[in-house]
Amino acid sequence: MSEPQAAITFIGKARVRVDGPLKVTGMARYASDHNLPGMLYAVPVGSTIANGTITAIDASRARQMPGVRAILKRGDLAPIAYITPDFSDSVMLDEPRPPFDDDIIRYYGQYVALAVADTFEQAKAAADAVTVSYATETPNVAAHLIAPKTKVVSKRGNAAKAYAAAPITIDSRYGISPETHNPIETHATVASWDGNELTLYETSQGVVNHRNVLAAMLGLPRDKVRVIAKFIGSGFGSKLWPWSQSPLAAAAAIKLGRPIKLVLSRPMMFRNVGHRPRVEQRIRLGARSDGRLVSLQHDYVNMTSILDDYEENCGEATPHMYSVANLRVTSGLAKRNIGTPTSMRGPGAVPGLFATESAMDELAVKLGMDPVELHLINEPQLDEGLGVPFSSRHLKECLTLGAEKFGWSKRNPKVASMTRDGMTLGWGMGACSWIAARFDCTASIELHDDGTVRIASASQDIGTGTYTVMAQMVAEALGIAIERVEVAIGDSNLTPGALSGGSMLTASLVGPIEAAVAAAGKALIDLAVAGEDTPFSGAKARDLAFRRGCVEAKSDNRRAMTFDDVLRALKIGTISGQGSGEGTFGAAGKPKLSSHSFGAHFVEVTWQPDIARLRVSRVFSVFDAGRILNPLAARNQIEGAIVMGIGMALFEGTEYEAGSGAPVNASLADYVVATNADVPALEVHFIEYPDFNLNTLGARGVGEIGLAGAAAALTNAVYHATGVRVRELPLKIEQLF
Ligand code: MOS
Repeated sequence: MSEPQAAITFIGKARVRVDGPLKVTGMARYASDHNLPGMLYAVPVGSTIANGTITAIDASRARQMPGVRAILKRGDLAPIAYITPDFSDSVMLDEPRPPFDDDIIRYYGQYVALAVADTFEQAKAAADAVTVSYATETPNVAAHLIAPKTKVVSKRGNAAKAYAAAPITIDSRYGISPETHNPIETHATVASWDGNELTLYETSQGVVNHRNVLAAMLGLPRDKVRVIAKFIGSGFGSKLWPWSQSPLAAAAAIKLGRPIKLVLSRPMMFRNVGHRPRVEQRIRLGARSDGRLVSLQHDYVNMTSILDDYEENCGEATPHMYSVANLRVTSGLAKRNIGTPTSMRGPGAVPGLFATESAMDELAVKLGMDPVELHLINEPQLDEGLGVPFSSRHLKECLTLGAEKFGWSKRNPKVASMTRDGMTLGWGMGACSWIAARFDCTASIELHDDGTVRIASASQDIGTGTYTVMAQMVAEALGIAIERVEVAIGDSNLTPGALSGGSMLTASLVGPIEAAVAAAGKALIDLAVAGEDTPFSGAKARDLAFRRGCVEAKSDNRRAMTFDDVLRALKIGTISGQGSGEGTFGAAGKPKLSSHSFGAHFVEVTWQPDIARLRVSRVFSVFDAGRILNPLAARNQIEGAIVMGIGMALFEGTEYEAGSGAPVNASLADYVVATNADVPALEVHFIEYPDFNLNTLGARGVGEIGLAGAAAALTNAVYHATGVRVRELPLKIEQLF
């Protein structure tokens, strides 16, 4: 009998990625790394117009080319069904029109045919040789947005009346260019059909949802479709729901009876798999002369595609962010000949907070008040939108600690008044918020007699550290070395997991993992009691406990046995346990608590007008995101988000060319994202108030929150340096003169 193991603490400790060695040695296999016997390569043909009708497709030359197996177009594949999205059934997708469904072109790059050949190069050459004729109409990709109708998203008091009576007002309009997700791994599908079952190696942030959608699209039972995504080169939301390449590859594999590999090119990433749409927002603030807000009106309109009603929910944070008695938030859509938009890191809240946090800075300037002070005096006591308390809100502390660490008290509010080394300094700040919730999720565990453990859930790791945090949770619960934990995720055949989305997966996994461990322990106790010749034979199960991986008498832990000792004594190789947890996201009815994370960014820019050089020189950010389970991974997530915030403020914008409707800067050379050269050392600080509202570890999840508020903090700093208020992103250097 071995001694009970010493307490090992994994939760809250910085851990390097358990999957790191696989990644750095190239052993981790991403979707497109899968090569199957007999596999063919598919390359889509995209439309070269954004509005019109296909009049003819001439594939005769392409069909004659070397290695070409098929040129598939409308009518050549078994029909792919329209799906009605249903979140509660995990059947979500953004672009409901199945590929090849009709001859109408609604956006540039819409798939019109699929070339299939023995090699990628042959398929690409054949796709390029397909001639498509169109009846072309002028596309509408106009950037200025007017919604034909708007709806009220949130309302309290009488915002218009309070605004009219307010002594101090701000009325500003903000525009944000469309942003395209640019994960390094482009979307890819490797589809294999054995005559009975479909297997898809996918780039998916939700393998269960992907499985369900593909089964419905192809008319297959769910248990005949398997979606595997063991490693994902990030997604930022673009891989939450399936896109057209997946049913196309699957239908082609079924039709041809050969595995099909379809990997999107970088330009296709700008056309076919979602983006954050352009948003225009108007913020009207009314305040008393002491800075107290009396009215907030937030009206926004986002671009969406012709067939879809994607709403960029910019008012997500507005109703609970500030204390204000009178508020009205409205939203509207403007249809354009563009691909379907989708969630992109911090959907809604990120563009929304750019507008509200810019307007708060404008108000602070008008009041002659420090913007940190303005935030502090408008901190709400409860979520005034829902009329319920916050589960945990420590934004005040984020603001005060951030201000202190940044040295904010030395800020001279006068524009262009601060200098260093001959450069003008600008200091700006922005607060932020992001929803904290759980998805429905299950997990199963196997305890093995060799002391190893397997934890499984059809969740996935998009690069955020899910493998690692799951291993930490299990190692902690069982008091074993983290190396003894095998994590199985990224496979829809596992017990249903949750989406890698909304920064919610970690919080969603805590309960199911704990329940699975407890269930395995209970089963172990029952067997130990029933079994002959075990140290616990004949004991009463209720007198025993499973704690830190050991079976022990509740009153006498000297007889504790580790689970592997018990299993060996029982001559049982494996015992398993299943656990589940209910989601809170999208749950019906009014919640009892408002659950969000909060934070504050403090940004310094340097400005050299003589050479038109603007640099971000310092960022200090503080977050209240509950308990941080792995500070290394959490910091890494936040740093990545802030880099995106710098990109959003300074560089990122998809340009639709008016004539063709094409996203013209559709490459990593022309669509500029922030790189190391643009980013100073980032200082990230977590104030840890465990939030037990969501799970027993008190974790809320991190990721998206780091992007929220970052762009506004930066452009507020730009105002401080230059006196120019940036209301259109990305900032253009020529605006600063
Ligand atoms: Mo995130 S936009 O929920 O992948």
